[in-house]
Parts: sequence; C-alpha cells; structure tokens
Amino acid sequence: MEFSKLLEQRRSIRAYAEGIEIPREDIEQMIYAAQQAPSWKNSQTGRYYVVLSRDMAETLRLTCLPDFNRDRTEHAGYIVATFKRGFVGFTSEGKATDGLGDGWGAYDLGLQNENLLLKARELGYDTLIMGLRDEAGIREMLSIPEDEIMVAVIAIGKRVSDPIKPARKPIEEIVKFF
Ligand SMILES: Cc1cc2nc3c(=O)[nH]c(=O)nc-3n(C[C@H](O)[C@H](O)[C@H](O)COP(=O)(O)O)c2cc1C
Repeated sequence: MEFSKLLEQRRSIRAYAEGIEIPREDIEQMIYAAQQAPSWKNSQTGRYYVVLSRDMAETLRLTCLPDFNRDRTEHAGYIVATFKRGFVGFTSEGKATDGLGDGWGAYDLGLQNENLLLKARELGYDTLIMGLRDEAGIREMLSIPEDEIMVAVIAIGKRVSDPIKPARKPIEEIVKFF
C-alpha cells in the first residue's frame, strides 16, 4: 500500500469484529517490520508478548484493563511491548550516558511499534495502543521478567467501522524552522 495512504488509514480502533483469527505468520510479519526500525547501536532491546488464544486474551481483557479499554477491545488479541532495562542509553558499566536514561530504550521501542502498527494496517488489521493497563497483572500473567520495562499493550484485530480521524495540530504549532 502507498505510504501516505497507509498513514491515513492507520487509526486507533475502539471496536473490533468478532471471530477474527490472526495467523501467527501475520504477527511474525509485523514483528519483522518492527525489527527494521533503527535502534541505539542496533541494540534491538524491544520484546513482544503476543496473546492470540481467545481464552488468554479474554482473561487479560477482563482482569488487566480498566473498564474503558476493556470495552474498547472485546474480540481483539493483544501484543505487549517491553524493552530491556538499563541497556540502551547506558555504558557497558551501566552508567546513563545522559539524563534520558531508559527514555532511550522507550524511544527505540516506540520506533519499532510504529512500524508494527503500519505493517498491521497494510495486512488489513487494526490496532489500539493502550497506556492504561494493570502492569503488575500482565507481567505476572505473561511471566515478563523484571529486567524488562513494560510499556504498551497493543490490541489487534479488525475494525467494525471507519472512525473519524482525530484532528492534528497546525504545523506552525509544532515546528520551528531556522
Ligand atoms: C502511548 C499511548 C497511549 C495510549 N493509550 C490509550 C488508551 O489507554 N486508550 C485508548 O483508547 N487510546 C489510547 N491511545 C490512543 C490515542 O488516544 C490515539 O493515538 C490518538 O487519539 C490519535 O488517534 P489516532 O491513533 O487514530 O491517530 C494511546 C496512544 C498512545 C501513543
């Protein structure tokens, strides 16, 4: 799909169609796209936990999401995105190279995740990034190790209808040219 079309078509989707099976190969293509993102010294510290089984997805939804995200992601699967703590943005002795610390790892993961979202859309899927979730509950459920910082839970499935695109700020508000 043409890139500018893909950018317009990707939307945060808050209602998912029932009965959609997502083949593992499709998720692997999304992860491959994520891996093509640039990363600090090519460190690739992003990690993904993919919940496609209906039973587990339903448990995650009902027990680890606040009610609004629970309602918005019924019938979806979930991809939990984490990154290795204390690596990107740190020296080999474990000293932060600047004030951003693990913010650099989160930066790398964000670059990866946008690739993942766009690949999902290209393959005909839709997504919702969720920052509001029960981190401890998901960590325990998926055995996410303590040396990984858990960031986003991404719902994945297929939209039931096309949402209206939320407005973007005027370019003058977000950029200064010199
Ligand atoms: C870090 C992050 C956290 C978000 N958390 C939530 C969330 O918990 N629930 C939700 O419905 N949307 C969430 N969103 C989606 C945003 O609201 C959405 O991206 C924004 O309104 C722009 O809409 P668009 O994605 O369709 O362009 C989140 C997005 C990001 C990037």
